[in-house]
Amino acid sequence: MFALLRRTRVVLLVVFFVAGSTLYMLMDQSREPSLNMVFPPSGIQLDSETLKFRADAIKEAYQHSWDGYMKYAYPQDELLPMSKKGGNSMSGWGASVIDGIGTAVLMELDDVVQKQLEFIATIDYTKCEHVISMFETTIRYLGGMLSAYDLLAGPYSKTFHAGKGEKNYDLVNKLVYQSVKLADALKFAFDTTTGIPSGYFRLGDGAVKSNDINIIAGIGTLVLEWTRLSDLTGDPQYTRLAQKAQEYLLVVENPEVGEPFPGLLGTHVRLNDGNFQDSFGGWGALGDSYYEYLIKMWVYDQKRFKRYRNRWVEAADSTIKYLASSPPTRTDLVFVAEYSNKDSIAFRGSHLACFIGGNFLLGGQSLQSNKYNVFGLQLVNGCHETYAGTPSHIGPEEFGWDATLVPGGHKEFFEKNGWYYRGESDYRLRPEVIESYYHAYVVTKDNKYREWAWDAFLAINRTCRTENGFTSIHDVTREDGGRKDDKQESFWFAEVLKYLFLIFNEEGIQAKQKIGFVKGHKQRWVFNTEAHPMKVMV
Ligand SMILES: *[C@@H]1O[C@H](CO)[C@@H](O)[C@H](O)[C@H]1NC(C)=O
Repeated sequence: MFALLRRTRVVLLVVFFVAGSTLYMLMDQSREPSLNMVFPPSGIQLDSETLKFRADAIKEAYQHSWDGYMKYAYPQDELLPMSKKGGNSMSGWGASVIDGIGTAVLMELDDVVQKQLEFIATIDYTKCEHVISMFETTIRYLGGMLSAYDLLAGPYSKTFHAGKGEKNYDLVNKLVYQSVKLADALKFAFDTTTGIPSGYFRLGDGAVKSNDINIIAGIGTLVLEWTRLSDLTGDPQYTRLAQKAQEYLLVVENPEVGEPFPGLLGTHVRLNDGNFQDSFGGWGALGDSYYEYLIKMWVYDQKRFKRYRNRWVEAADSTIKYLASSPPTRTDLVFVAEYSNKDSIAFRGSHLACFIGGNFLLGGQSLQSNKYNVFGLQLVNGCHETYAGTPSHIGPEEFGWDATLVPGGHKEFFEKNGWYYRGESDYRLRPEVIESYYHAYVVTKDNKYREWAWDAFLAINRTCRTENGFTSIHDVTREDGGRKDDKQESFWFAEVLKYLFLIFNEEGIQAKQKIGFVKGHKQRWVFNTEAHPMKVMV
């Protein structure tokens, strides 16, 4: 009787405690400002005809880019549209084909996909004459093939006759077979003292130099692809390799150098002992996708990757606390600064780092935290200003907002816009700003972000389009974009055209219905850093 009583009390206590903490959470949430209060809805309406017109225009841009590639560059990595030939900047296995297939599947470009599938089946990943980047090869090739498999074995199997017994069944299975071949060819690069892979190597090398260094994005942007490969094949060796390397970023060996702020790291890591060599970093080049993948791994599998989530939260909170910064001339804008070490912050940003708004919004959605959503939308808005402020309506590769460093003759521009051109002002067909618009639209459903994306597309179509595909341009400070540089990057297919297509493609059109990227707060697919969607674990 006594025991029973005690147990009842315990149960009651537990019930009381749970009810109390739920109430607290609700109160806590309601104390956070709602998104609508901070960002009042624009009220912009777009009818289905307009959306279809836009989605078709993006498809047309894909077909145009593909036709130019096929005419002058296939089966090389990418088209050089001005000199009308191919280039091999990505190991020479036909990067544009593999980077492009997922977008073509979503657009249901049947003939293109058929050609791509047939080509991929023939690639010999055991041979390569070029230097290989572990990072680029993982995100473009491995990510591209695994994503195409997830799409074609899943929601698109009927469209492309890819189900059991149908004509493309073998070609689709070949995507996984080829992924194994590729990973098996690359995996010797993990064979170092620490297990941190070499960043660059040749297939013939046989062994890698352990006195080498790698960067945190090079180490921390492998785990999604190598884990997906393990999960699809049932062979755990691939995820083990990637996770072992990642361990040196989850727990830093020498935090006094390598972790200047909680969760925010230095850049270069030694392969022989896992120590950081420096304290500089941020969300731009060299660091970026390490942070991006922390939250994406948790979205991919909440059971296995809780520590990754916690690490993202640490980095995100430190970013808000130490790196968030408003230009003195435009206090309404928020950018994220970089650092040389914990005592030295640099007020500079880049097109690459503009993915961060989208990444915070993904974090805000999946963790159901308005704090990250609000911050994410502020950053999306800041990056939009770098597009809106230029005569070409495309943002520069690099920009700054340090009032003490404004170049001569740019004071007025800085007064008005809150940022100035710094270093390179070209545009390389990069996706990050549009990628963040996509996430902002998904979270808010505000058509304003579609308008921004359309404005960006029209500007790109006006300045980067050539007779045979699209090209990088030299100078976004000129209305016409200046000189046409000579490269149609494979990520143009994988990222820019995919995010553009998806943002205009919500109702009534196939892709979104089939894929259902988000249901409530639950993500059903997660994009790798090359915008290849992978099916998440349930
Ligand atoms: C893109 O550019 C082409 C070539 O100038 C043009 O024909 C097409 O109408 C443009 N697309 C849009 C949506 O403006």
